[in-house]
Amino acid sequence: MIQMEILNMAGNRLKRKYMVNRIWEKRFWISCFFIIFLFILVIFQVMVELGRFEKKETKSSTVINIQKQKKPLLKEQSNSRLRHFKDNYPIMLWWSPLTGENGRLGQCGTDTCFFTINRTYLQDPMTKAILFYGTDFNIDSLPLPRKSSHEWALFHEESPKNNYKLFHEPAITLFNHTATFSRHSHMPLTSQYLEGLQALKSTDYLVSVEKKNVLRKRLSPLAYVQSDCDPPSDRDTYVQELMKYIAVDSYGECLHNKDLPQQVNNPSFMDDSQFHHILGQYKFILAFENAVCEDYITEKLWRPLKLGAVPVYFGAPNVEDWLPSNKSAIIGPSTKLWNADSAHLNCPAPEVF
Ligand SMILES: *[C@@H]1O[C@H](CO)[C@@H](O)[C@H](O)[C@H]1NC(C)=O
Ligand SMILES: *[C@@H]1O[C@H](CO)[C@@H](O)[C@H](O)[C@H]1NC(C)=O
Ligand SMILES: *[C@@H]1O[C@H](CO)[C@@H](O)[C@H](O)[C@H]1NC(C)=O
Repeated sequence: MIQMEILNMAGNRLKRKYMVNRIWEKRFWISCFFIIFLFILVIFQVMVELGRFEKKETKSSTVINIQKQKKPLLKEQSNSRLRHFKDNYPIMLWWSPLTGENGRLGQCGTDTCFFTINRTYLQDPMTKAILFYGTDFNIDSLPLPRKSSHEWALFHEESPKNNYKLFHEPAITLFNHTATFSRHSHMPLTSQYLEGLQALKSTDYLVSVEKKNVLRKRLSPLAYVQSDCDPPSDRDTYVQELMKYIAVDSYGECLHNKDLPQQVNNPSFMDDSQFHHILGQYKFILAFENAVCEDYITEKLWRPLKLGAVPVYFGAPNVEDWLPSNKSAIIGPSTKLWNADSAHLNCPAPEVF
């Protein structure tokens, strides 16, 4: 009996112990559950906070990242932030409101500068440079008197015909830094109309000479496409004379004698690939610049080369310096006649800008 009792008791004790263990086990799991729950909650909270922080961060850091988000951000910028920028960075003041930006940080060489179109910064001691865009440059509204600490910079990627006053020595020498088509400018833009070597090597629009010979039955040997009919170079007078001796298909508004297919006849047809296929059928394409200036070379020269046609060129007297080979183009005889002196008629002082 005692043995039984002992066994019973032992059994009960074991049972109780087992029960106690079970209770502890349950508690353990419940605690675990709570700990995990809490852990997840904390992580969630941290993520939410990080998200908010990141949004704030991008707000301030994207100001530095110029290209991606321009205007919306600028509107959000408080005046105090702008004040902070302009007090801590050299100010580059766009006198021509080219960028339309009231204030942003941007790269200037290896430094960071504050770029603005807000003219009230003219008197600011942190203002280091005044930037001008050639087309908007007006000699009657310059920031005068000029401070000796202010450097002036000119950006003019267009033809000299766009702003004649600029290309006279007294005007162009106002600038400490220039970026124009001229190789003599501080940052030459001479080859700005050529995307790259690949564009010249591409055979996308190339038509074989055999095919071109067949096409000659319905196409003239020469194509001309111009819609600016009264430029300083007076190119149309030349083309009109040329037309007396050789057939020219003229698709543009100037000396127009051939229509484009309806589907190509839109304002941006010059960039239309269908139009490029049409031009690519020609052996020769007239490439006449609107102004005759050393180094002033535009897409008029590059387009025929890209399409596999030979440009008949009139423009920069020194174009040969920029051609892949002396056989890449037929240089119009009058280009040769415009020697360095007469080129001054269109570009008065090429050696100084
Ligand atoms: C230009 O900057 C001044 C501070 O120098 C500021 O008071 C003014 O509102 C700014 N102008 C514009 C159009 O943001
Ligand atoms: C910038 O150009 C002006 C006018 O030619 C000149 O007086 C000034 O010294 C130049 N500034 C610098 C830093 O070269
Ligand atoms: C191309 O022509 C220019 C000017 O006539 C000449 O100076 C140059 O030597 C020529 N280049 C080649 C490779 O023939």
